[in-house]
Amino acid sequence: MVTGAAGFIGSHLCERLLDEGHEVLGVDNYYTGSRRNLADLLAHPMFEVMRHDITMPLYVETDLIFNLACPASPIHYQRDPVQTLKTSVHGAINMLGLAKRVGASIVQASTSEVYGDPEPAVQAESYWGRVNPIGTRACYDEGKRAAETLFSDYRRQHGSDTKIVRIFNTYGPRMRPDDGRVVSNFIVQALRGEPITIYGDGVQTRAFCYVSDLVEGLLRMSRTPGEVSGPVNLGNPVEITVRALAEHIIAATGSASTIVSRPLPEDDPRQRCPDISLAKSLLGWEPTVDLETGLSRTIDYFRTLLATPV
Ligand SMILES: NC(=O)c1ccc[n+]([C@@H]2O[C@H](COP(=O)([O-])OP(=O)(O)OC[C@H]3O[C@@H](n4cnc5c(N)ncnc54)[C@H](O)[C@@H]3O)[C@@H](O)[C@H]2O)c1
Repeated sequence: MVTGAAGFIGSHLCERLLDEGHEVLGVDNYYTGSRRNLADLLAHPMFEVMRHDITMPLYVETDLIFNLACPASPIHYQRDPVQTLKTSVHGAINMLGLAKRVGASIVQASTSEVYGDPEPAVQAESYWGRVNPIGTRACYDEGKRAAETLFSDYRRQHGSDTKIVRIFNTYGPRMRPDDGRVVSNFIVQALRGEPITIYGDGVQTRAFCYVSDLVEGLLRMSRTPGEVSGPVNLGNPVEITVRALAEHIIAATGSASTIVSRPLPEDDPRQRCPDISLAKSLLGWEPTVDLETGLSRTIDYFRTLLATPV
């Protein structure tokens, strides 16, 4: 079962699970997800999708849950911050309750945002983070932190097989063109020939993981023995400045766009780069798709999307 199945990562995960021959139940309330993301899977005999909000309890049979339901981009998670927090906290309680009832393993899609605006240049799982609990990003960051607490307490208190992965910036086809995330923003602006907006001076760094690599990491984590709980960082440790990313996308799209600067939003992290030593040693995992290849696939996707009438 995949919650958030109609979302960007969830739809790729469902596709991969079906390709491997599993029966898959996708759950989504379509808050940010789209039926279009699942269009190619709907006819698959092993796939079923259910409209459901995970802030409500769910009674189904399953042996493995991937809990991905949660808006992931600041524009969307800040639109209804109370709902975002409910999705992380009530959603985690409901999905953990379901896992406990049916004896399923459950994997939580946590985030590098639990590290907040980090002091260490590269963040390892042992770092406890630096999060503003009352800022506009807190509904997401603190929600995900509380969900990690719930996953850890269900394991300690009820012996549940819970696993946490902390996902760093991931990109690829099926991101929304309007979600304000840096890769999709820049590609859409470049394809439309609009100015590319960077926040601040653009020297802040990010590290981008292609979605197929991320899905591979999620699957490997789900197959670890019961005693493995994480958290485990999943991300691509190759850093690039936001300005260099914009320049790369302008070149790759052949766009005439220029770069313009806007004020930095509140609590925007200056640096974000995963230490993936644990994922390497525990899961034998590391990213295999380089930025150039991943961006070219993503640009192709957006080129087709923007040319398709809604
Ligand atoms: N994409 C990234 O870079 C990234 C980074 C860190 C963590 N994550 C985490 O991975 C997960 C998936 O992210 P994504 O990028 O695919 O985001 P997304 O917004 O594309 O997908 C989230 C999905 O969850 C659904 N959803 C939201 N609230 C729900 C609810 N209450 N009940 C049922 N469904 C609900 C949405 O409709 C959507 O389909 C999220 O939990 C996110 O926090 C993503």
